[in-house]
Amino acid sequence: MKTEYSNYFDNKVAIITGATGDIGLAIAKKFHDLGIKLLLTGKNEEKTNNLSKNMVNDTYTISIDLSLPGAETKIIKSTIDKFGKIDILINNAAIIHGGLFIKTSDEMLRKTFEINFFKPYKLMQNVLPYMLKNKFGRIINITSLAGEIGDAGMSAYSASKAALAAASKSIAAEYGKRGITVNCIAPGLIETKALKTINPAYLNLIKNQIPSRRFGTPEEIASLATYLASEKSAYINGQIININGGLYR
Ligand SMILES: NC(=O)c1ccc[n+]([C@@H]2O[C@H](COP(=O)([O-])OP(=O)(O)OC[C@H]3O[C@@H](n4cnc5c(N)ncnc54)[C@H](OP(=O)(O)O)[C@@H]3O)[C@@H](O)[C@H]2O)c1
Repeated sequence: MKTEYSNYFDNKVAIITGATGDIGLAIAKKFHDLGIKLLLTGKNEEKTNNLSKNMVNDTYTISIDLSLPGAETKIIKSTIDKFGKIDILINNAAIIHGGLFIKTSDEMLRKTFEINFFKPYKLMQNVLPYMLKNKFGRIINITSLAGEIGDAGMSAYSASKAALAAASKSIAAEYGKRGITVNCIAPGLIETKALKTINPAYLNLIKNQIPSRRFGTPEEIASLATYLASEKSAYINGQIININGGLYR
């Protein structure tokens, strides 16, 4: 597909975690159509295998539970074995866990941080040497509006996303001079299966508070990810870009 980005993405290699989810899949499809070589991860084996049936060009998949020790090194090794380099990392996989603060168990708190913060951090650490070698890198972490403003019943999730955003800013400050940018996309409410778990009456109430009067789409997140992954975004670094229809400006 010829677009304004076509030449930018020639021979680029990207890792997208959580590509079996709604937002990850939208990013994967857009990147695939632009000719980016892809290493896609998911947890569910069947869903992960299905990804490569629809995306046939230079797309490899790994089904892996990110909470397992060494998951990050397996993902990086597979990418290097297949493509020999890594240009773009999209840390998108997450557990979107809700629960009252008082009832949040140690186990759930640790698991949330393991998948939403610790493993994205380790993936950034592990891709860095390859990006430094090429003097080019785009790291995009999918955080959340909840990590910016907090949300009732989402204390562990919000904290894990805030931690990832803070780390991203620091890493951006360290490596900007080496051609590597680190930015976050912080979605508000996006039309995904996560939204379907929320009470419709409550959702309607929130929708009426959104200046755009609608929820976002996974494709809108994917368009922003595409821009941030491109060379056009070279002067955007260490930012948390909200994409929420104007909610909580
Ligand atoms: N949806 C929203 O409105 C919204 C709002 C703000 C932020 N976000 C953020 O956007 C990102 C994507 O959200 P989404 O709505 O697309 O979520 P989703 O549909 O639930 O997808 C989550 C993805 O993460 C993967 N994942 C979960 N636990 C994993 C584990 N232990 N190991 C490996 N992979 C695991 C899932 O794999 P399997 O499907 O294979 O299990 C899936 O691919 C997340 O970072 C989320 O926090 C979403």
